[in-house]
Amino acid sequence: MKKVLVTGGAGFIGSNFCNLCKDKYEVIALDNLFLGDEANLDKGIKFIKGDACKTEDLDKAGPVDFVVHLAGTSSAPMFMGNGLVKGYVNSVESFLTVLEWARKNGTKKVIYASTSSLYGNNPLPLTEDQHVTPLNHYAVTKELYEHAGACYNKVYPEMDIIGFRFMSVYGPHEEAKGEFANLISQFCWDMARGLQPVIYGDGEQTRDFTNVRDVVQGITLAIETNKKFGADVFNIGTGRATSLNEIAEALEKAFGNGIQAKYIENPVKEGYVKGQWADISKIKEVLGYEPKIKLEDGIKEQVENVKIDRIRQTSSDKLR
Ligand SMILES: NC(=O)c1ccc[n+]([C@@H]2O[C@H](COP(=O)([O-])OP(=O)(O)OC[C@H]3O[C@@H](n4cnc5c(N)ncnc54)[C@H](O)[C@@H]3O)[C@@H](O)[C@H]2O)c1
Repeated sequence: MKKVLVTGGAGFIGSNFCNLCKDKYEVIALDNLFLGDEANLDKGIKFIKGDACKTEDLDKAGPVDFVVHLAGTSSAPMFMGNGLVKGYVNSVESFLTVLEWARKNGTKKVIYASTSSLYGNNPLPLTEDQHVTPLNHYAVTKELYEHAGACYNKVYPEMDIIGFRFMSVYGPHEEAKGEFANLISQFCWDMARGLQPVIYGDGEQTRDFTNVRDVVQGITLAIETNKKFGADVFNIGTGRATSLNEIAEALEKAFGNGIQAKYIENPVKEGYVKGQWADISKIKEVLGYEPKIKLEDGIKEQVENVKIDRIRQTSSDKLR
């Protein structure tokens, strides 16, 4: 069985990967619990509470065939104010430490999270060969990952380094991310509490909302392929743009509670992304990826999960 170390394994995408792949691979989740939650992981998954910036913590996993590096400072607002220096250090140090550790331990491939935020307001659809000018520090760290990965692979070509530019990912286990979670989750949580979801501007801004299971599919395909890549990057999305108005309508329908969105003036004056829609022809052709989860189904599932959590919460409140 292939052995896969997932840094950031107790986080949103990491825990979904570990849970969905636990029978296919020997997965080891490593997380410092800065944002993740060990409770996100299914029983039986090996968990290391550790820091991806520390070789001695990575050593606890022992040699592995693949590393999926999802640890790091995972969204743009985390770099604001006092978070700036720590945000950069955590992301950059963890990536470089993981590359060094992986190579020295004979790892075949390092697969890491880049981001669609790199594209800023580039022309749509977003293609991997576009020139990118990151609009925020978070995106700068991911551009650095891509360049550092390419340089590293030139010196050490035996280990493939594959980056995925995830679009706007939604799905279960985002609770620990709180205000940094995807808009679908945040809108869901608001509506479950009887609050109106807040939309900036007219709601016509779009995102390529991608179910986390499709992200897991892409990572798995990169693990499974026998093709040699050197260092490369791929978009993972659905190839479809959906407006926030459409999301709010779909959620209103799924909740059936008549709660509609509240519109406010956009407080983000600089660098706000107006549209996002990935061209996914590269990942389709090279890895055979095909998005499988329809947005309507993903949203229904998300609403059902939130309703169940609500019922659980209400009954435990009654017990107190
Ligand atoms: N969620 C999205 O829509 C999205 C989109 C594009 C890219 N990404 C990237 O994907 C990756 C995973 O994102 P996510 O949404 O699951 O975020 P997340 O914050 O839930 O996951 C990151 C996990 O890494 C852990 N972590 C942070 N620094 C660490 C360190 N030094 N050592 C060990 N663990 C550490 C955190 O505790 C957290 O559990 C991130 O790199 C993020 O930038 C996410």
